[in-house]
Amino acid sequence: MEYHMNTSEDMTILGIETSCDETAAAIVVNGTDVRANVVSSQVDLHARYGGVVPEIAGRAHESLITPVVAEAMVKAGVADNEVDVVAVTHGPGLIGSLLVGVAAAKAMALVWGVPFIGINHHEAHLYASFLDQPDIEFPLVVMLVSGGHTMLIEFRNHGEYRLLGATLDDAAGEAFDKVARYLGLGYPGGPAIDKISSQGDSEAIKFTPPMFHDGLDFSFSGLKTAVINYVRKNSDADTADVAASFQKAVVDVLTHKALKAAKEVGAKGICLAGGVAANTLLRQRTSEICNENGFVACLPSRAMCTDNAAMVAATAWWKMQNGGGSPLDLGADPNLRLPFIQN
Ligand code: KG4
Ligand code: ZN
Repeated sequence: MEYHMNTSEDMTILGIETSCDETAAAIVVNGTDVRANVVSSQVDLHARYGGVVPEIAGRAHESLITPVVAEAMVKAGVADNEVDVVAVTHGPGLIGSLLVGVAAAKAMALVWGVPFIGINHHEAHLYASFLDQPDIEFPLVVMLVSGGHTMLIEFRNHGEYRLLGATLDDAAGEAFDKVARYLGLGYPGGPAIDKISSQGDSEAIKFTPPMFHDGLDFSFSGLKTAVINYVRKNSDADTADVAASFQKAVVDVLTHKALKAAKEVGAKGICLAGGVAANTLLRQRTSEICNENGFVACLPSRAMCTDNAAMVAATAWWKMQNGGGSPLDLGADPNLRLPFIQN
């Protein structure tokens, strides 16, 4: 098919993200100039169930996608014929949620006669770093910590990723959510633990971070059990102290391994990505270890750490420089993986 391209040198990308429970659309010009970043969170719809309900998420995306895209275009002051590329997360994620974004993106790209490009959600989290620091130098170690994943990744160059370590059981965000639920702090648990921890003593209880000295992999399920056992035995324990001590244990092991990884690969910097990267103590400790050891700290703003579509559009811009769009028969893939290089 024939594509129209704006005659100006600028590339305006509409990004769409619907992989989990945020319906998001953004307009990003030339990979880093975020003109609009709209995120409609469904957190209230899922809170009463204590987690994301896939069928509810899919239905909510279906009703929110059109207004959210329209809002992003109006906020950016961009007309239909000024969009050069439509980018969308096509995996991994919930299939019913992904399909809504993918179908909408294909329809808009077809109607406007512009390229469509499918983006890996994990890759988008990695590229969030470039929105605030476009000049950051490779190689980087990225700590991708979200509700579903905990990975240490060597980001060697554009499109070149090597997996250095990952969780063997629960993801870091999942551990925050499960401990928060046990402590009666509500959902999502990460922000709740972050908040209450500021009133607690992180040295009050010594939770030993699992696998602290073993390689670059992680394990969080034992830590969650240790917290639960402690509270069962000490029913008068102060919740803020328990939360702060648990948070410290998670942050200690994450930052210890990120630093070890950065030294091993000779990284220039350490980046945070994913929802847990919004955590106050994790951000503070990451800055400190970077300052102490001569690494650049790359901490995207909290809005860019949690799910958003600006990071999808930013990734698409880098990909459009080195290839182009995706075929229109590209599907949603709930199990999509990053194409890791082996060494
Ligand atoms: O990346 P994300 O928005 O969604 C995916 O899982 O892809 O991450 C959500 C996770 C949840 O587990 C949530 O509890 C956690 O990020 N989270 C936090 C904080 N804000 C969000 N964890 C710790 N501290 C926070 N401030
Ligand atoms: Zn995510």
